[in-house]
Amino acid sequence: PRCFALVPCAGVGERAGVGGPKQYHPVAGQAVVAHTLSSLQRVPELEATLVVLSPTDTQFEQHVPGFESERGWVARVGGATRAESVLNGLNELMERGVGAHDWVLVHDAARCLLQPAHVQALIAACEDDEVGGLLALPLADTLKDAVADDAGLRVRATVDRSGKWAAQTPQMFRLGLLRPALLQALSDPETAAQITDEASAIERIGHQPRLVPGAYENFKVTWPGDFSLAERLLHPR
Ligand code: C5P
Repeated sequence: PRCFALVPCAGVGERAGVGGPKQYHPVAGQAVVAHTLSSLQRVPELEATLVVLSPTDTQFEQHVPGFESERGWVARVGGATRAESVLNGLNELMERGVGAHDWVLVHDAARCLLQPAHVQALIAACEDDEVGGLLALPLADTLKDAVADDAGLRVRATVDRSGKWAAQTPQMFRLGLLRPALLQALSDPETAAQITDEASAIERIGHQPRLVPGAYENFKVTWPGDFSLAERLLHPR
């Protein structure tokens, strides 16, 4: 089986507070997604990378010129949620000849500090697995369950963090397993809202994805301060 990457890049990124999609915000002289894609292009095990854009995207070509000349594919099939964007991207991969047994590594456009070695560690850990798996980090902070009151928020309880991991990407599953899992999860609006990564859809159909230790730097640019943090990690002084 071959390995392909699928990068959902069709979000609006409101939490980042930069007045536009965060994947196009500059970090160290290049758009966030340009860093992400150049990391993936340095992984020799990947046959090609498909980027899923919003149908109304006007910025990708300007920020990542010439992407389609080097093992790069683009599809303007982004959906209303990340999971819909990924499912539409899987359909596009099928049309381009990717088979049910081939592996698809889904990676967030907004995780721009991914290193090729992280991807290779995931592939090495999962390529002989029945199910597949994901990069993740054990939780370092103590977890609080919050409740709102008149003045703001209060702690309702502390959640036991032992055995809890924070899911990252890439998440690596066979096309023929991930596609039906997402189709089923998205068919019911109530469960669809809980599908915030690929592994959650795989778990819903009864499988246990493998957890592979990731790296702290592989965080998802989400909040306003994350751009300068990413910049310092890319260009340490
Ligand atoms: O918003 P969030 O940080 O969870 O987005 C994770 C990734 O999914 C981002 O790369 C974003 O562009 C992508 N996404 C998408 N389609 C959506 C929502 C998010 O491709 N409708």
